Amino acid sequence: MRVLVTGGAGYIGSHTVVRLVESGHEVEVVDNLVNGKAEAVRRVEELTGTSVPLHVVDLRNDAATRRVLEEGRFDAVIHFAALKAVGESTQKPLEYYANNMGATLTLLAAMRDAGVTTIVFSSSATVYGAAAPVPYVEDFEPLDSASTYGQTKVMTERILTDVAAADPTWRIALLRYFNPVGAHPSGRIGEDPRGVPNNLVPFIAQVAVGRRERLSVFGGDYPTSDGTCERDYIHVQDVADGHVVALDAIAAGEAGVHAWNLGSGTGTSVLEMIGAFERASGRAIPYDVVERRDGDLPAFWADPGKAERELGWTTTRSVDDMCRDTWRWQSQNPNGYDG
Ligand code: NAD
Ligand code: WQD
Repeated sequence: MRVLVTGGAGYIGSHTVVRLVESGHEVEVVDNLVNGKAEAVRRVEELTGTSVPLHVVDLRNDAATRRVLEEGRFDAVIHFAALKAVGESTQKPLEYYANNMGATLTLLAAMRDAGVTTIVFSSSATVYGAAAPVPYVEDFEPLDSASTYGQTKVMTERILTDVAAADPTWRIALLRYFNPVGAHPSGRIGEDPRGVPNNLVPFIAQVAVGRRERLSVFGGDYPTSDGTCERDYIHVQDVADGHVVALDAIAAGEAGVHAWNLGSGTGTSVLEMIGAFERASGRAIPYDVVERRDGDLPAFWADPGKAERELGWTTTRSVDDMCRDTWRWQSQNPNGYDG
């Protein structure tokens, strides 16, 4: 298939482009580089030995987005492009709604008018909100989320559902990722956060490599095995594989909307993750247990059964693999793509 990947210069997008090319798809990327890097796409080309055109376009630019869709003759779109910092989203709701909803609406109209009606969308476990029982199952309702960022995922799922109801030719996958971490095993591409990392594993990796002194562990008094929060961490290579199989499934299977969790089904605590990273890196990770972070849930993980039954997809990489591959990326690229 010819596939347009929005946000393909970003973390999960770049890893997915590699797996798409390796699976025989022809790929182009559209990204405004607000958080992604052109160097990531260059390294994807190096890893795959294949040219991957990068259109530096903001998806809110209607004319430019239509041009990409009209000229590309794509069979499908994988839509990663979004702003994703949970804390910042609640400080800057107008910017987050404008970007994430604006980009998606422009993209969907341009797709419809170019006759492209197959899309895989990057959703998130955050859409289950605070009321869903653990493990999270895809048919839980009503969806909700504590942050503005999360609300953009809930709203986009709603929009895509309405689009499919109005036009039965649409084929839509909603992939709800849990906590993607890790990097490509080559160490050439990985997560390169701008500024202070918001997420646990990138922060730990920067402590291990000496860019930051100590980790703050947010809360040690949760009702969990060791008092710290538990999450369903998933290797980014497993996430990338999930996109390839979901795309094949919606292209060949029944039209309409399909939601799938991409998670492992097991929880790992913050302290367990620190221990795993210390083993993988051979470095000590000094930390302090501090106050809880606003909005954190104590523990959640996926029921991964639907993806296994319908896509034949399960995670194949362990927490130790995630730490080993993150460490290879971080130690070989201590300042990320900026050299
Ligand atoms: P990322 O920031 O590395 O990638 C997103 C890319 O989108 C960036 O390269 C950015 O430059 C681009 N972008 C943003 N707004 C754009 C616009 N208006 N026009 C064109 N490009 C634009 O983030 P990621 O971690 O790779 O996440 C990819 C997707 O997966 C996002 O939609 C995110 O919300 C979702 N997601 C991520 C996680 C996670 O933990 N990383 C978990 C669940 C869901
Ligand atoms: C994991 C655990 C923190 C940093 C977020 C989004 C979610 C999804 C994935 C996009 C928590 C603790 C963290 C630190 C810490 N993204 N922690 N010290 O919050 O589970 O999920 O990313 O859709 O929507 O909310 O991930 O990596 O931020 O935190 O102790 O410096 O690590 O409290 O328990 P989270 P995270």
